[in-house]
Amino acid sequence: MFNFDYYNPTRILFGTERIADIGKHIPADARVLITYGSGSAKKFGTVDEARAALGNRKIHEFAGIEANPHFDTLMKAVDLVKEKKITFLLAIGGGSVVDGTKFIAAAALYHGDVWEMWSKKLPIKRVMPLGCVMTLPATGSESNGTAVVTHTGLGAKVGYSHPLLFPQFAVLDPRKSYTLPARQVANGVVDAFVHVIEQYLTYPAYGKVQDRFAEGLLLTLIEEGPKALIKSENYNVRATITWSATLALNGLIGVGVPQDWATHRIGHQLTALYNLDHAQTLAVLLPALLHVQRDTKHLKLLQYADRVWNLREGGEESRITAAIDKTRDFFESMGVKTRLSDYGLPESAIDEVMDNLERFNMLPQGEHQDIDAVAARRILSLSY
Ligand code: NZQ
Ligand code: ZN
Repeated sequence: MFNFDYYNPTRILFGTERIADIGKHIPADARVLITYGSGSAKKFGTVDEARAALGNRKIHEFAGIEANPHFDTLMKAVDLVKEKKITFLLAIGGGSVVDGTKFIAAAALYHGDVWEMWSKKLPIKRVMPLGCVMTLPATGSESNGTAVVTHTGLGAKVGYSHPLLFPQFAVLDPRKSYTLPARQVANGVVDAFVHVIEQYLTYPAYGKVQDRFAEGLLLTLIEEGPKALIKSENYNVRATITWSATLALNGLIGVGVPQDWATHRIGHQLTALYNLDHAQTLAVLLPALLHVQRDTKHLKLLQYADRVWNLREGGEESRITAAIDKTRDFFESMGVKTRLSDYGLPESAIDEVMDNLERFNMLPQGEHQDIDAVAARRILSLSY
């Protein structure tokens, strides 16, 4: 096991009616900006619940943070923060709203070129405090220090991580996910699943605790994910998926072990260029990546086949192939298609993605830094 720092300062307020408690965690004299997306937070009453919990505090709202939040939109919120002398940010929505609000928190107190800071990952010294009400279990953004922002003018989707970007608190009320369309429920399950895989399916590093946690999360998502598609209002199913998604990317399972974020990094290019949902990109790329990387991931693929899919018969290569096929079938069973052609992308998409990966210096990737341009192209070709 490698050396590690484990740090997670986010207070989780889990369960029903927890929005009522946010006032205890925001200064009484705070001037609060509530941020949200295209309207679900307003339509389903969550903004009103938050307003009620904030009592007499001065409150402003910023609506319209889109999926895969855009730099230009977020900079408008930064202007509002300055104009209204905001002192606390409250994000209500999915990963896009929470990520966007993390960006606002950093940008509002940054002196200098904000996109340069973000894209070159320059250090930040201060951020505005933020909390969130997570309405879509998926990204883990509610209790990590990462955010991903899209610059449409540049065709770039760029992640940034900093310990100051952890939300101070996250409300996780599983009932908030009842109003999600099936597509977003499925996206969330697939995203969380792939987060676990990318911290688990590398090479053995005697991370026994991390491995068992990871396998537990994978098995849970495989069991509970399909149930959430059958009946939308099942509290225990939604609670289990919500907590799984948080644990998948709150830092815990990734400590002390190798990680491989290639599926995510290549996937971000597909979203930036073709606007695929984040989880759709992962469902397409992960099976292909596992095929291309099957030799370097051999031992962990066998462990995954055995412990997650109960595949113990036959030769090693056939068990590995079966485990990759099971992974693809799981995504398909959740209703998330696993081929680029399923989304109507032209074959020229491969060249476009390769251009982006090279333009933004994103290669090599992988736990051994061995996913170079040749391997990335093979992964994309196999994704068709
Ligand atoms: O815009 P609104 O009205 O909020 O509607 C959203 C949006 O249309 C809707 N929605 C959210 N909660 C709802 C709801 N609709 C009905 N009822 C509810 N309770 O769902 C749609 C998708 O929302 P979005 O926030 O875009 O989805 P998700 O949570 O999957 O977030 C995706 C973004 O997170 C980034 C992705 O790259 C992408 O930009 N990620 C962030 C990570 C992180 N911070 O650690 C890690 C992830 O790997 C990921 O990269
Ligand atoms: Zn993700």
